[in-house]
Amino acid sequence: MRLSVIGCGYLGAVHAACMAELGHDVVGIDVDPTKVAALNLAQPTLYEPGLVEILQRNLTNGRLRFTTDFAAAADAQVHFLGVGTPQKRGEQAADLSYVYAAVDSLAPYVAPGALIAGKSTVPVGTAASVEARLKQVQPEAMLAWNPEFLREGVAVSDTISPDRIVYGLPAGPDGEKARALLDQVYSQALSAGTPLVATDFATAELVKVAANAFLATKISFINAMSEVAAATGADVTKLADAIGYDERIGRKFLNAGAGFGGGCLPKDIRAFRARAEELGLGDTLTFLKEVESINLRQRVRISELVVEALDGHLMGHRVAVLGLAFKPESDDVRDSPALDVAVRLHGLGADVVCADPKAIANAAALHPQLSYTEEVTDAIDGAEVLVLLTEWKQYRELDPALAATKVRGRIVIDGRNVLDPEAWRRAGWRYYGVGRN
Ligand code: UGA
Repeated sequence: MRLSVIGCGYLGAVHAACMAELGHDVVGIDVDPTKVAALNLAQPTLYEPGLVEILQRNLTNGRLRFTTDFAAAADAQVHFLGVGTPQKRGEQAADLSYVYAAVDSLAPYVAPGALIAGKSTVPVGTAASVEARLKQVQPEAMLAWNPEFLREGVAVSDTISPDRIVYGLPAGPDGEKARALLDQVYSQALSAGTPLVATDFATAELVKVAANAFLATKISFINAMSEVAAATGADVTKLADAIGYDERIGRKFLNAGAGFGGGCLPKDIRAFRARAEELGLGDTLTFLKEVESINLRQRVRISELVVEALDGHLMGHRVAVLGLAFKPESDDVRDSPALDVAVRLHGLGADVVCADPKAIANAAALHPQLSYTEEVTDAIDGAEVLVLLTEWKQYRELDPALAATKVRGRIVIDGRNVLDPEAWRRAGWRYYGVGRN
């Protein structure tokens, strides 16, 4: 099919490349000429495993190109909207200005019978107003909402083989036409048996924010348990294993530690609460406020563990922070718990050296006051405490005996509960986990 993808950030760039990989003819459109030029050279400004390879392949075979010119979308049958919906400055609500700007720029080029499929995460009710806006310019065009569930770090496989597909379809005969177009786009995944939920706009919009709110709640639940475990001498990791065997609960997303961050979960639960307030349902989602408080408290708790381990004084002490990205296999530091803890420790007077294999440039742009190194050995050299905050493989697999020969103090704070406490203790370390006995 001929597709356009509007907005070539995380979601849009990956979606455009993956749609081309599936055999479609795709033009990606973004207002930022630097981003467009980089993507046309298969040099995306973000790190995502596998993305460069599929960009290279599909730019070369001619199925994919990027431009700033909206007119290039004119012959597309389906236009995907993948622009950002960041948090509004000084407010909890989502900023929809990029969504409306994209629709306004695109609408004059949408052919009669063509479909705009919104992928951005939006407050419930947005699709209805986007549809009205589109119809004013092109009454024969259609809108659907088709939320995206990809995870950073595995975004390529999540897009090519999603675990479910959701269509929010327009009412009336357009619903069937829109569905037929989307079925063609996703024919490979659908014929492989991927579950499809076809519904109305509001449900599709809510599915996305409900999923992220649930995941955030699950993480904060186990982090709350980690506080109780810490106070009682219990082990939250064993607790998570034991409750996770119950299929109704499940072990995934029950890892206690520094908490959730990134460009999605934190801002999505805030925007969801803001939307609920507008709907007169503020009380209904009050629990999400608690979810966020627990999440932010984890960062304070980990900083306090470092202070405690150094007998109350950080001033002048050398601390190695391992990890800056909000999760492994990403260079994204938006709302990153790891970076936040590093900044706190620096603020308390510690001499902080941060290591991360991918996220240093992004972190340094925000916090030039910290010291950075890509090499874990440079970070731990002479350190008095190691603080693991992003569970990159190379940090999980650090050899405690070898690390012991490099440091000045054998104290390790495992902010993601991924190290083997016994192995570290055997190598002479004082090990602190999060709610881990
Ligand atoms: C999240 C959702 O998982 C995706 O389904 C969704 O499409 C995406 O947001 C989005 O809205 O676009 P992502 O932001 O890539 O994806 O990150 P997650 O894998 O959900 O992790 C979020 C945070 O939770 C990370 O900081 C991670 O370290 C933390 N986490 C995760 C925990 O602290 N404990 C866990 O057990 C799991």
